[in-house]
Amino acid sequence: MLETIKLTKRYGDLVAANEITINLSQGDVFGFIGPNGSGKTTTMRMIATLLNPDYGECYVCGKSIYTNPEEIRRLVGYMPDFFGVYDDMTVIEYLEFFAATYRINGPGRRKICEEKLELVDMSFKRDAMVNQLSRGQTQRIGLARTLLHEPELLLLDEPASGLDPRARIEIRKLLRRLGELKKTVIVSSHILPELADVCTRVGMIEKGIMVADGVVADVMKKAREAVILEIQVMENTEKAAALLEQHDIVNKVTTEKETIFVTLKPNSDDYSELPSSLIESGYRIRQFREEEVNLETAFMELTKGLQQ
Ligand SMILES: Nc1ncnc2c1ncn2[C@@H]1O[C@H](COP(=O)(O)OP(=O)(O)O)[C@@H](O)[C@H]1O
Ligand SMILES: [Mg+2]
Repeated sequence: MLETIKLTKRYGDLVAANEITINLSQGDVFGFIGPNGSGKTTTMRMIATLLNPDYGECYVCGKSIYTNPEEIRRLVGYMPDFFGVYDDMTVIEYLEFFAATYRINGPGRRKICEEKLELVDMSFKRDAMVNQLSRGQTQRIGLARTLLHEPELLLLDEPASGLDPRARIEIRKLLRRLGELKKTVIVSSHILPELADVCTRVGMIEKGIMVADGVVADVMKKAREAVILEIQVMENTEKAAALLEQHDIVNKVTTEKETIFVTLKPNSDDYSELPSSLIESGYRIRQFREEEVNLETAFMELTKGLQQ
């Protein structure tokens, strides 16, 4: 339902978004992950028709951003990373105000606003003043506002940033709910593990370039080509490290305090010879485990070439 083809935006010499290609089906929740300044907002604004690309195509439900921008605005709900709220308005008035700007009028309008409030669990604040809400509550109202015109594709730019842990969990719940409602979602974050369990797909962006994308499990697997083992022995850590370094399947060994980190060569799935050789040499093993590949380590692995 969303297809971007080599979407590119330049600011002078800087390529803020460099040939970004994304393909999403209905109901996908796509985690768009990358550090600050990597091009997430730029990409999302191009999809939302708020920014003209220099190159590339983008189709939402088969409509091009160039030839059907108005239809795309109906199909897309964009929640910017920062949005102003108005003083002197209650939550329900705020939503009705925006509903009116979407030309949602008549008796149905109040019902739609109440529905969206319900969806983001904010009905209990319907008569509160918008400028007195917490940041987490403001984000939820922002999401309700983004949902008013029943968009098919939601672009949520860092909805969890600046929130406390509880509010972050709430946002994750909402993302799941949106997926269940068969909305297609792009949600950006510079905090990696945040999105792992709610996204069906992830894309990792670094300096305008999509360095990896796909279903979460595949991206993790790609990063996993280099398995890292965490090993602790009861004594002589340095000597044990030297012993491990001699194995053919081992690419690199580092030590940090008591722990030996062993990076294996690609596709070295069977590393049983390592614990055996330690034991044969008389070492007592306290810990031997594969480092977990979470989105964070995956990102570090996959962007290695671009950092520094
Ligand atoms: N209007 C602009 N003029 C010049 N450079 C910009 C403009 N907007 C964004 N950039 C630059 O483009 C890059 C990508 O920015 P952005 O898309 O906001 O990243 P992110 O959302 O991932 O933090 C950054 O280096 C940023 O400084
Ligand atoms: Mg941004």
